[in-house]
Amino acid sequence: MRLSRKIQKLFSPEIFESFREHAARWTHPVSSRRILATIDRVKLERLREDYPYRPNARRINMYEDAAHWIGVHVAHAQDLWLDRTPPLRILDLGCGAGYFLYVCRFFGHEGIGVDTDEEPLFRGTTALLNVRRTIARIHPRVPLPDLGEKFDLITAHRVCFHRLNRAPSGEWNEWTPADWEFFINDIQTKFLKPNGRLLLDFNPRRDGSSFFTPALRACFLAKGARIFRSKALLAAEPGKRPRFKQTKR
Ligand SMILES: C[S@@+](CC[C@H](N)C(=O)[O-])C[C@H]1O[C@@H](n2cnc3c(N)ncnc32)[C@H](O)[C@@H]1O
Repeated sequence: MRLSRKIQKLFSPEIFESFREHAARWTHPVSSRRILATIDRVKLERLREDYPYRPNARRINMYEDAAHWIGVHVAHAQDLWLDRTPPLRILDLGCGAGYFLYVCRFFGHEGIGVDTDEEPLFRGTTALLNVRRTIARIHPRVPLPDLGEKFDLITAHRVCFHRLNRAPSGEWNEWTPADWEFFINDIQTKFLKPNGRLLLDFNPRRDGSSFFTPALRACFLAKGARIFRSKALLAAEPGKRPRFKQTKR
């Protein structure tokens, strides 16, 4: 990260929010080890033998490394107060290996994932973790498939479904603000309960800058999003200010 961006971050109002997030995790500690102890890690590590890497697949994510991913998703769950709220119905878009929903279940929530069936290992991990998922591909300006229910919380961590293909420059061609508007509207009107929330968490761009370009930031804010670092949080009603802390269902 460039020095100027680091200095900018140091003086941004987000630093206080960030501090609050860390303080909340610190004052309400969760033992990832207790969650890990419920997973058969020998079986998990052996899954690679049954589901080898696809040819040319990137190997950076090491989804069989449960200790790493459980830690990551415990922090995500804590930031949404899921370790301290009554049971919720959760939909996780691009659920991947299923670790986030597994952590949620440990805190008493039930949920379902949506993902493509492209990564063979995820077939094994979701089965081992007993995480239910619907196989579907999310396309721009196409409604999500009907799941027969509405949710208290819809999440997508390290969102990828907006990436269409790589340009020769190596950059992704991705959804336009109008595509996002369609998607958010579909989620708000058809998939969220009245007090429901949608949380989207994005990887930074290749140059380390935020996913939220000025045009995307404006688009998300117009839909009522609260943007905090890499995340956008939206309420079911565009006019309502969403809260990271879940108060009522
Ligand atoms: C970077 S992984 C993140 C997995 C998980 N959310 C996590 O944080 O561990 C992105 C996930 O999105 C899924 N995905 C990518 N494009 C998708 C699409 N168009 N529709 C549904 N899922 C998609 C991938 O299969 C993958 O599981």
